[in-house]
Amino acid sequence: TDYIEADLRDPAKILEAARRTLDFDRPVTLVLAAVLHFIEDEEAYPIVRQLVDAIPSGSHLVLSNVSSDLNPEQVGQVTKAFKERGFAMVRRSHAQVERFVTDNGLEMLDPGVVPVHRWRPEQVTDLPEAANPDPEFVASLDVLDRTRYQDINDVTDADVSVYGVMARKP
Ligand SMILES: C[S@@+](CC[C@H](N)C(=O)[O-])C[C@H]1O[C@@H](n2cnc3c(N)ncnc32)[C@H](O)[C@@H]1O
Repeated sequence: TDYIEADLRDPAKILEAARRTLDFDRPVTLVLAAVLHFIEDEEAYPIVRQLVDAIPSGSHLVLSNVSSDLNPEQVGQVTKAFKERGFAMVRRSHAQVERFVTDNGLEMLDPGVVPVHRWRPEQVTDLPEAANPDPEFVASLDVLDRTRYQDINDVTDADVSVYGVMARKP
């Protein structure tokens, strides 16, 4: 493993540094979790293109992005707060998130672009600790985390407001 301090808006630097540790002749997974919403469209789509172009066939892309259509009012307030502090907060619709996959010729994995808690939730509730949680630990969580921990299926799309997707490079 390695850690590098870099700006996502400089993908060439990230790729150069990643090559010191990763073998780009073998599949890798590119994870862009909750970071693309800090980057405006005119830079975000080309950045993902450049990163996806650099990874070999059989690699995967995982990404998530704050949505514009699940809980517009509350997410709008968060966006305003970020913007007032000088940060971009680019909410993206289902179609706009999907473009990161379709524009780059990637194969979408099931269940496609979904609010992140809907990405194969059955595998979460199968965890033994979710079936038998420590009551003290559960009591220490806030309402949303408690619900999520006890049964991910009780969480609403509006609670989450973030789309996620996973895709494979053919
Ligand atoms: C919501 S956190 C997500 C962190 C982590 N990926 C995760 O899923 O737990 C967003 C992160 O993106 C980082 N970030 C924001 N703009 C960035 C940029 N242009 N380049 C690299 N990182 C950035 C922030 O510093 C923050 O650590």
